[in-house]
Amino acid sequence: MMVDPSGQAAGEIDPMPETPHEAPPQWEPTVLAFACHYCAFAAADLAGVMRLSYPTNVKIIRLPCTGKLDHFYVLRAFERGVDGVFVTGCLPGQCHFLEGNTYARKRVDYIKTLLPQVGIDPQRVEMYNLSAAMGPRWAEVCTEFTEKIRKLGPSPIWWADQQPSS
Ligand code: FES
Repeated sequence: MMVDPSGQAAGEIDPMPETPHEAPPQWEPTVLAFACHYCAFAAADLAGVMRLSYPTNVKIIRLPCTGKLDHFYVLRAFERGVDGVFVTGCLPGQCHFLEGNTYARKRVDYIKTLLPQVGIDPQRVEMYNLSAAMGPRWAEVCTEFTEKIRKLGPSPIWWADQQPSS
């Protein structure tokens, strides 16, 4: 690997930290959850049957397996102004397609390395593993993640969209 005198590898892009802003009082985070059909989606369903409450900020996209997750889906979600994305797959070793959740975790880790290069805090993406019986955990994950995003504030793309166009 070529390294320049500043210690930066050739072709490496400096991460751009998010500019802190104070969120407007009416602002609510928009959170997208990619949920595996066999576990997390069933856990979300169970949370509903158990009448557990969790933030309505979370919108769910069901995947047949988190192995279907593509980097592009997550990056496109941010491009469309979503403030945070989490991925929920089966427990380790319990993916119905054997390794889908392992690949998904690797993709999420990779996405975390990409986001700072476009000025988005990598904490805005997370991966969790759940079983279909973990309805209360689903509600907990939704609440914890939404609160984390609320503290981070609106995504830089949301802020950019608020600027008057010239
Ligand atoms: Fe659930 Fe693969 S089937 S993560």
